[in-house]
Amino acid sequence: MMNWKRIALGASAAVLVAAVGVGIWGAHALDTSRSDVADDKVQLADAKITDQAAIRRGEYVMRAADCAACHNSTKGEFSGGYPFVTDFGTILSSNITPDRQSGIGAMTERDFFNAVRHGQGSKGFLYPAMPYTAYAKLTDQDMHDLWAYMSTVQPVANAVDENGGMIFPFSVRLAMAGWDMLFYDNTPLAATPGKSAQWERGRYLVDGGGHCSACHSPRNLLGAETNSRYLQGGRIGYSYAPDLTGNMHVGLGRNSAADIAEYLKTGGDRSAIASGPMAEAIENSLQYLTDDDLKAMATYLKSLPSSDETRPDPIKADTPAMKRGALRYEVNCAACHGVRGEGMGNMTPPFAGNQALQSADAATPIQAMLVGGRAASTHTKPTGAGMPSFAWKMDDRQIAETLDYIRNSWGNAAKPVSESEVASIRKGLGARKNLPAN
Ligand code: HEC
Ligand code: HEC
Ligand code: HEC
Repeated sequence: MMNWKRIALGASAAVLVAAVGVGIWGAHALDTSRSDVADDKVQLADAKITDQAAIRRGEYVMRAADCAACHNSTKGEFSGGYPFVTDFGTILSSNITPDRQSGIGAMTERDFFNAVRHGQGSKGFLYPAMPYTAYAKLTDQDMHDLWAYMSTVQPVANAVDENGGMIFPFSVRLAMAGWDMLFYDNTPLAATPGKSAQWERGRYLVDGGGHCSACHSPRNLLGAETNSRYLQGGRIGYSYAPDLTGNMHVGLGRNSAADIAEYLKTGGDRSAIASGPMAEAIENSLQYLTDDDLKAMATYLKSLPSSDETRPDPIKADTPAMKRGALRYEVNCAACHGVRGEGMGNMTPPFAGNQALQSADAATPIQAMLVGGRAASTHTKPTGAGMPSFAWKMDDRQIAETLDYIRNSWGNAAKPVSESEVASIRKGLGARKNLPAN
């Protein structure tokens, strides 16, 4: 386990030192002059916007940017309070309804632009759990439309103390100014010579509203995305968001653009079915995008050069552990996942040729074994079939062996899953202990 106290203190020192060293770039990162295109007089609670076309476009921007995923709660749409557990403490999402006291009703359009694109909110610098690092790429037009849409949201009174659960010194919002100076780039996307309009649109949707890299890029110790490994796979809690580059082994190298668009719209394609955070992204956001926009995203993703992760040698099928894994697979899994790992149509994912399953980081399959899961349920594929938990039935070694079997059969190849990793995820998820063997 990481010692977060040591890291937190070391990290804050690093922020201070580095912030001093990046003065010029820093000033640029904190510059909000791009927001000058927005009105600074009318507050959201008083905004009477009647342009229905703008409101409709704004709703689409909201969908594509998935604002609801983090800001909805049981108290009402956009009323905030959704918790994000980080290495630096727990941060809650803000109430962004037009309520004047507890929401953003007192914000002007310019304040709103400053918060969403620049991470400078009503209480000071925002934490990057709010993906302003991606929303910085949103165009002025999309921001105006989003503002128009937000004015139609029902105000809900729900006071949220966003950073009350953060650990000192990260509870000090000013620390985020140093973070911004290091990691935040507020420049809009510039056109890339030689690229098609479809590719540009795809990149805009992926890097802007879609904030795909928030999950699919690895992060450094300060929680910033590692740009040199853009979309090469990242960890969010106990889920692993796989490599989206053209890597033939663990990425999207074998998926066509049509497969990817189908996955994003319906929640599954011939090689995978979405669950967990990706199922949510599809259910709340991506399934509402137009086919043209989904194709544009797929076209852009297909243009990403392969990461350099290589295919390991598969674990040999005749080891005692693999034989035990095979037997356990046949007894517990084959009914749903198929005797040859071929899956069952839109219901259960295949394992043969499932690239994400072979990722070096096995958190997602370990989690599936320990707490089960649910496939995405969309308008086109509504079933949302369930995966049962095996935490009660298998111990850590048995889970590791079963996963080694599916990750190394039918042409698959992957690093062995360690028993200690299963143990630590079991503990972290609070999954039950297996029943004592009799
Ligand atoms: C991945 C989660 C996530 C998504 C997606 C997200 N937000 Fe946030 N947002 C947060 C969190 C967490 C905070 C609180 C940050 C803080 O207080 O430092 C926040 C804060 C804000 C604030 C600042 C409120 C204030 O009073 O300063 C605004 C405005 C906001 N979000 C609007 C949006 C909009 C609009 C979208 C969609 C375009 C969106 N958010 C999408 C997590 C998210
Ligand atoms: C909240 C985190 C999160 C966000 C945001 C997110 N993803 Fe994912 N994504 C995941 C996880 C986790 C998985 C693995 C899901 C599984 O295996 O069931 C995944 C899986 C995928 C896959 C399937 C890969 C494969 O080989 O099976 C694709 C394609 C994908 N995401 C594309 C995107 C795109 C495009 C975006 C942005 C529009 C995006 N994701 C945003 C977490 C996220
Ligand atoms: C009752 C049917 C059923 C049984 C039995 C079953 N699964 Fe699943 N499994 C599913 C469904 C449905 C999904 C897709 C939803 C999800 O990912 O949670 C799934 C998903 C998975 C995933 C993919 C997780 C991801 O998102 O990438 C893994 C790994 C997995 N199962 C392993 C197993 C193993 C190993 C066994 C046997 C020990 C097993 N399953 C038994 C139905 C089943």
